[in-house]
Amino acid sequence: PRKLTTVKVLSESPGVSSIPSIYTFPKQTYHEPVSDTKEPIPTIDFSLLTSSHPDQRSKTIRELGIACRDWGFFMVTNHGVPERMMEAIIEVCREFFELPEEEKRGIGGKHVLDPIRFGTSFNESVDEILCWRDYVKIFQHPEFHSPNKPPSFSLGLEKDYIDETLNLENGLQLIAANLYPPCPQPELAMGLPPHSDHGLLTLLIQNQVGGLQVQHKGKWVNIDPIPHSFLANIGDHIEILSNGKYKSVLHRAVVNNRDVRISIAVPHGPALDAIVSPASKFVENVGNPPAYGAMKYKEYLELQQGTMLNGKSCLERIR
Ligand code: SIN
Ligand code: FE2
Repeated sequence: PRKLTTVKVLSESPGVSSIPSIYTFPKQTYHEPVSDTKEPIPTIDFSLLTSSHPDQRSKTIRELGIACRDWGFFMVTNHGVPERMMEAIIEVCREFFELPEEEKRGIGGKHVLDPIRFGTSFNESVDEILCWRDYVKIFQHPEFHSPNKPPSFSLGLEKDYIDETLNLENGLQLIAANLYPPCPQPELAMGLPPHSDHGLLTLLIQNQVGGLQVQHKGKWVNIDPIPHSFLANIGDHIEILSNGKYKSVLHRAVVNNRDVRISIAVPHGPALDAIVSPASKFVENVGNPPAYGAMKYKEYLELQQGTMLNGKSCLERIR
């Protein structure tokens, strides 16, 4: 396997004003102009979903359906997660990336099914162009894992808390923390190339440095961070299950030359052994044949990790 330098090390080497050519993404395919749409991304006030007014609840549920259909992305506010907890997880991930390189490299394994994995780029083993991004990914459910450094890594929740409150008996949950250090040539590099997320739903928090772009109506839209909100997006397995009704949308991360950006994505998936295919409810209608083949979630993970996607959704591989 290749042994790659992290972009943290590259960005901190003194006097460097250009990036190695292996980090340069071709301009015509990756650096098209961004949409100037004033259409805001849908925002869902989570507290209204449990409102005691039935009208308010059904209105919010309708808005949620429209957001899943038209954008596949929405912001969640008033979610009840304490602000200090959201800030603390960003800080502890920052501390993690500050650990000595050998220590980070010694943590966890290299395989997509290893519960703790530190690395750089997108798919280290197949990438021909490298991404300006380091990450750590940690399975959180059904088995909880945590690196033993830095000491305050976990949210401090009881082991069974999420299990019991959300009753996700065997779903896979993992945490993927991303570091995008300042890049001397942001117009050439890419933090993460266009991709869609595996799983059911991804929740994302980030520090106050933007960089995420979402594809909407064929154009890239900048998503500005809203303090203390979660960004939610539909994953590939909801698109499969709903036979394409709800969209797992392409998104990417661009980088900048001023500020460190940290984002933390928490994908929620089915159980690793679950076989996912379009639900009969969505295929029975005439002229609506299943648009995706059935596949084990863990086999899909390996397919996505082991294939050069060239800026396309992995869903195209099973259509
Ligand atoms: C991701 O798509 O997994 C992360 C995107 C981001 O850093 O905002
Ligand atoms: Fe993603």
